[in-house]
Amino acid sequence: MALPSNHFRSSVGSKVVMALSGLGLVIYVILHMLGNLQVFQGSHAFNGYAVFLRDMPILLWTARIGLLSLAAFHIVLAIQLTLRNRHARPVAYAVREYRQASFSSRTMAASGFVLLFFIIFHLFHLTADMIDPSSVDRLDVEGHRDVYGKLVHAFQNPFIMALYLAGQLGLGLHLNHAVTSSLQTLGFEYVAFNRLFKAAGPTVALVVVLGNVAIILAVFLGIVHG
Ligand code: HEM
Repeated sequence: MALPSNHFRSSVGSKVVMALSGLGLVIYVILHMLGNLQVFQGSHAFNGYAVFLRDMPILLWTARIGLLSLAAFHIVLAIQLTLRNRHARPVAYAVREYRQASFSSRTMAASGFVLLFFIIFHLFHLTADMIDPSSVDRLDVEGHRDVYGKLVHAFQNPFIMALYLAGQLGLGLHLNHAVTSSLQTLGFEYVAFNRLFKAAGPTVALVVVLGNVAIILAVFLGIVHG
């Protein structure tokens, strides 16, 4: 019988961990988008939400460490599995089966890289304030950190707006294939629900991307303003 450590070193074990870590990240992305939609309720609601999160450092740091671990597992295993697959088949198929594989499934590595670059940029930009240091000490009229003002200031800039929209393209393509594929890896295959599982990826991708794009464009077009 295979030992558990051998099992997790196998492709199947790696795929299961990748699927679970990916779904954990999907839950974060959905919650993050829902939280950010509060920008439509104005600066009081949005900054209150940011203060609420920062006022609970234990919860915040547990979530941050959990998130970082999920991302690290996911990325390392993705690289490992890609390299293992290339090793197993050093010569590519002469004719690729493009009809069966969707565009998003064929571009998972590329969309994953776009997403990774977007997240790194996003953290430097909005969390560390290193792209636009003018936002560092921004306070609102109630004396709270003015995350709302920072967001509005950011998306008024066409270059930042375009970068965030490009990030959404990577996010949408990645989610479109990843959610359904993770459910399959975890064995969610029941004839009665298969259409539902197939629709899960495109639905999650569409909802998250539309929510995020709505925020970016609402600021850029002046619907949400300072
Ligand atoms: C239009 C889309 C997005 C908007 C408007 C947005 C907005 C924000 C804001 C306002 C913050 C907090 C900054 C602060 O507290 O000073 C933040 C943090 C963060 N965002 Fe986003 N975000 C977006 C998309 C994403 C996506 C797609 C991901 C991941 C795939 C992501 C991951 C994060 C992470 C990891 C943090 C750091 C959380 C922490 O402080 O620990 N964001 N985002």
